[in-house]
Amino acid sequence: MKYLENAGEMLERLEKYGAFIVVSDGEKVNTMTIGWGHFGIACGKPAFSAMIRNSRYTKEFLEKNPEFTVCFPRDASYRSALAFCGSKSGRDFDKIKECSLNLTDSEKISVPGIENCAVFECRVIFKTEMTPENTSPDTAGKWYRDGDYHVIYTGEILNVR
Ligand SMILES: Cc1cc2nc3c(=O)[nH]c(=O)nc-3n(C[C@H](O)[C@H](O)[C@H](O)COP(=O)(O)O)c2cc1C
Repeated sequence: MKYLENAGEMLERLEKYGAFIVVSDGEKVNTMTIGWGHFGIACGKPAFSAMIRNSRYTKEFLEKNPEFTVCFPRDASYRSALAFCGSKSGRDFDKIKECSLNLTDSEKISVPGIENCAVFECRVIFKTEMTPENTSPDTAGKWYRDGDYHVIYTGEILNVR
């Protein structure tokens, strides 16, 4: 299916380096590092699902403007930026500025991508809230002891560049 042909390579990059998810409310742009995500087909559309914990500033943006890009670096050149964006919150830092990230305009959505990455432009088609009731006890005990569950934002992939 169009847009999914490089999904395997992207998942390898995700596991090896992590990726940026970029969000915007029309005024500010924020990004954070993700390490988990799914490519697939949802509601007949090519889709990427990002798992965003309730505590993330990024979630506030997605609730206001349900569009995002996922930006997969080709190599380790973004290692320090991914470490920064994966440990500091946009509530405290302008991470785009701090990491000198160059943004690139998207074609199908209002949220930009990051240069030198494979950029997937996505618009949310549904979200799924993980809860103690719908999570296996083993998983809840391993990953969610603090109660900070993920919300899974499934976005239709509208463009890849
Ligand atoms: C390698 C790596 C992978 C991460 N993956 C995720 C993820 O998939 N989902 C998530 O909610 N947080 C993940 N994080 C943590 C967030 O990137 C981190 O909490 C970030 O500071 C949140 O930024 P924000 O408050 O500006 O949204 C990851 C961090 C690292 C270092």
